Amino acid sequence: MIEKLLTIENIDVYFVIGIILFFSLLESISGFLKNSKRAKGDWIQEIMSFVVLGNLIKPIIVFVIFITGTHLIPQYNNSLESYPFIALFAFYILTDDFLQYWYHRTAHETPFLWKLHRPHHQAEEMGYFVSYRNALLYYLLMPNIWWVAIILFLGGAKAVALGLILKQFIIIGSHSRLKWDKPFYSNATLLPIIKVLERIIVTPAFHHSHHGTSQLDSASDPNGNFGNMFSIWDQIFRTATFQNRYPKEYGLQQKTNDPWTASYFYPFVKSPDPKSDWSIAYEKLNTSTKDSISVSLTKGKNYLWCSCGRSNNQPFCDGSHHGTKFKPVKFSGKRTGEIKLCNCKKTKKSPFCDDTHLNL
Ligand code: FES
Repeated sequence: MIEKLLTIENIDVYFVIGIILFFSLLESISGFLKNSKRAKGDWIQEIMSFVVLGNLIKPIIVFVIFITGTHLIPQYNNSLESYPFIALFAFYILTDDFLQYWYHRTAHETPFLWKLHRPHHQAEEMGYFVSYRNALLYYLLMPNIWWVAIILFLGGAKAVALGLILKQFIIIGSHSRLKWDKPFYSNATLLPIIKVLERIIVTPAFHHSHHGTSQLDSASDPNGNFGNMFSIWDQIFRTATFQNRYPKEYGLQQKTNDPWTASYFYPFVKSPDPKSDWSIAYEKLNTSTKDSISVSLTKGKNYLWCSCGRSNNQPFCDGSHHGTKFKPVKFSGKRTGEIKLCNCKKTKKSPFCDDTHLNL
């Protein structure tokens, strides 16, 4: 039955448009769009990104793969067609999501890819269209779009269609401001269901946490929860934190004033804001020093210590670690008063100074 449905031409496109309309309608009815913080430039970028992705980037990648495949390995064209649908689907979707987990994680840990993914995290509110908010080049380099094209060449069109429908439903749902999982956390009967479900698929609570501004809010983990469709990769690679709450604040710690053109067309268009990662003048300086810094802490208050050595607010984190493998260290003031925190970033007792700097 499902297989037959998937043979309808462009069925996946109709479904994806239907899913977007569904979430758009519900967000509108809930009044979210009326209270939206989004500026005109945000809408232009998000809609443009969605349209270009489906009508330009994906067709170009499919074209390149089909031309290359037909020349180099013509005997493999449609070679997977005879395989059982369920096995082909599982193979396609698990590989797709595994590739996307690592691409997404790498985008958070390397400077150039971070600049292409940064538009996604600049959004200060969640919403169905945030799913498509990335630089043009981010999508062109996305390995799982190339994987989709390879599977299509090998004859897995039905598996791709089903995968696209399910994946978009989960991804758009996890970005939406609707938080469909919220009632599950507040109902004792429904709680076990969401506890199992969140261990398999990415839920709004799981993904909203990834968009939270900083770990000072315990519902936020912008340095984890990289999964797209499944949360299993985050659990396997130890980057998962499960939440039953949602961040108070979304977006980046450092606010910059960027035109949408720089956000979407980086590196071809640069930002005029010198504090922005997308400006020509932007440079991440090493702000660590060969000594400690005495700071005044308050008992019971939480702080984020900078471990990357790039913060402009040493010894505390200001979000400059994005695009590196470093993460801030969260700690709580044990007493009120002056405390020496490490600023050489070599301490073995982070965030406190252990005099390692004396041997540097
Ligand atoms: S700025 Fe966040 S860890 Fe250094």
